[in-house]
Amino acid sequence: MTDVTIFEVGPRDGLQNEKQFVPTDIKVDLINRLVDAGINKIECTSFVSPKWVPQMADAMDVMSAIDRKDNVTYSALTPNERGMHAALEANVSEVAVFAAASESFSQKNINCSIEESLTRFDPVMKLAKENGLKVRGYVSCVTHCPYEGAIDPAMVKMVGEKLLEMGCYELSLGDTIGKAHPQDIQKLIETVTQTISIGNLALHLHDTYDRALENMQMGLDLGIRTFDSSVAGLGGCPYAEGASGNVSTEAAVHLIHENGFSTGVELAALHEVVEFISLTMNSLSD
Ligand code: HMG
Ligand code: MG
Repeated sequence: MTDVTIFEVGPRDGLQNEKQFVPTDIKVDLINRLVDAGINKIECTSFVSPKWVPQMADAMDVMSAIDRKDNVTYSALTPNERGMHAALEANVSEVAVFAAASESFSQKNINCSIEESLTRFDPVMKLAKENGLKVRGYVSCVTHCPYEGAIDPAMVKMVGEKLLEMGCYELSLGDTIGKAHPQDIQKLIETVTQTISIGNLALHLHDTYDRALENMQMGLDLGIRTFDSSVAGLGGCPYAEGASGNVSTEAAVHLIHENGFSTGVELAALHEVVEFISLTMNSLSD
């Protein structure tokens, strides 16, 4: 049991925006190496439309080739019933649905309104329950939207409440474009925890403006104990122009350890994974 959970999203959020197709064996190697470094929650891929996100077209192959270790959660994004059926066939350990606190982002990202997205999640939740899988719920654009600007935290609370009512065990609050300042994170958490327990919250911070670590520190200070991060800070969202990667896993782990909390992640081993994926990505882009 560790004090703070790192939810590694590099293989999904980190790679989804790469223009050049990253070969399946590299994705698989990356996942295995991260788990060997002590990561025990990892988002491996997405069961989304390959027309929308071509990089994730090998979701089934990735899931069938990874080594599986006990007590490790191998998760995947599932936007709809079709994605959920595929995820079940791929034997994922849990899934994640993704909604937004901004109507415009919802339209651009998953081609439907927030309300419609929740309706699309109904069969996903039903199938998850029947198959004993936990479901994580993302809320994107929790402080800022690339299309609408500042977002009212009350909207995040409303969407979050619905996702929890539907059966999600955790909400991952996404600063999709990394525009939040620590005071925005504070206001967000204070508003959301008016009705939602802090234990149900995770932070998913993109590092576009180099503020992800400060924002993470604010989250830690306010009692958040799960953080999403991406090895080597890879990533971005294809439907949020200018969004850069998530806070890097190595910086996140370092910050958490500095605060006196355990993560179960070995920093030296993690740095070897950073080197591996950085060299690999550089050689792919040559
Ligand atoms: P749509 O076009 O509205 O849906 O897309 P559709 O049902 O009309 O389907 C369109 C085509 O996709 C059809 O194929 C379907 O069969 C196929 P066609 O007939 O044209 O050949 N299709 C699928 N194929 C594979 N798997 C599926 C699937 N569903 C439909 N599950 C849809 C709706 C949701 C599918 C689409 O908009 C989509 O795939 N969007 C993906 C968006 C995405 O992955 N975004 C990035 C992840 S979210 C993110 O990064 C934010 C996050 O990190 C948090 C944060 O940072 O804030 C989580
Ligand atoms: Mg993200």
